[in-house]
Amino acid sequence: MLIIYIEMIGDDCLESDVAVQFKNVEYEINNSKILKEINGAFIQGKLTSIIGPSGAGKSTLLTLINLLKSATKGEIVISGKTIDSYDPMELRRKVQLVSQEATMIKGTVKDNLELPLILQNKNMTDEEAEQYLENVDLSTSFLNKNSKELSGGEKQKLSLARALVNKPSIILLDEVTSALDRNSKQAIELLLQKIKREHNVTMIWITHDINQALRMSDYVWVMKNGEVVETNTVEEIENSKNTDVKSVIGEKSI
Ligand SMILES: Nc1ncnc2c1ncn2[C@@H]1O[C@H](COP(=O)(O)OP(=O)(O)OP(=O)(O)O)[C@@H](O)[C@H]1O
Ligand SMILES: [Mg+2]
Repeated sequence: MLIIYIEMIGDDCLESDVAVQFKNVEYEINNSKILKEINGAFIQGKLTSIIGPSGAGKSTLLTLINLLKSATKGEIVISGKTIDSYDPMELRRKVQLVSQEATMIKGTVKDNLELPLILQNKNMTDEEAEQYLENVDLSTSFLNKNSKELSGGEKQKLSLARALVNKPSIILLDEVTSALDRNSKQAIELLLQKIKREHNVTMIWITHDINQALRMSDYVWVMKNGEVVETNTVEEIENSKNTDVKSVIGEKSI
C-alpha cells in the first residue's frame, strides 16, 4: 500500500495518513467500463481536487467512496477498513457527499439542518442549529425561513452546514460552486478552507474550474476516459510533462 502511495504522490508518508485508498478499482455497467484500474490515495486532512473532461468518470469515482455505487473490481480502503465491511448508513455518516444542486427537503432551514439527526431518531435544539448557521456565516434569523426562499449560495452554505452535522471525516464535493455567481463561489471557497482547518476533514472536490483546483488544493487527480492519468501535488501537476494533464490544465477556467 505504501509503495502505491509513494508512486502516486511522490513523497514520504505514513500509512495512517491515508484516508481513502483505491487498489485496482474498476466500475462497469452494461458491459461498459466506466472506471479502469484506479489506484491512488487521498490523504487525511488534505484537499484533493479531481479534474478532467466531462464523462471522464469523476462523479462515478466519488459515488464509490460513499457506496452510492459499488466497485465491480478491486478494493477501496477507508481509514484502514475495506469499504465492504462498513454498514452503508454508518459509512455515509462518516463520508458526506455535497453536490451542485444543494438538494433541500421541504420545510424550514432548521428542518434541513436537523435531517441527519432525525434519520437517527435524534433532535437538534434551536441553539445547536444557530451554531451550525453561524459556522457557515448564515444569519441565525434564517432558522425558521422556508428553505425554498434561500439563494443558490445560501442553499450551498446550508448544505455544507448540514454535511457537518454527523461530524464526517471525509467530505465529497461534486461541483459545489459551478452554479454560483462569483461572490457566492468565493464565499464557499473560504468556507471550505475554514472547515478543513477547523474540522481536519479530508476533502475530495470535483471541479471544472481548473484555476480553482490549483488555487485551493493540496493534491490533484487528473482523469480522462475512466482512468487516472496523474495524481500529484499542485506544483507537480502544473509542471507535468504528461500530454493529457497538460491538455486539461491548459483549459484553465471554463
Ligand atoms: N448508469 C449509467 N449507465 C451507463 N453509463 C453511465 C451511467 N452512469 C454514468 N455513465 C457514463 O459513465 C461516464 C462517466 O460519467 P461521470 O458522470 O462519472 O462523468 P464525470 O467525469 O463526472 O462528467 P461531468 O464532468 O460531465 O460531470 C460517462 O460516459 C457516462 O455517460
Ligand atoms: Mg460529474
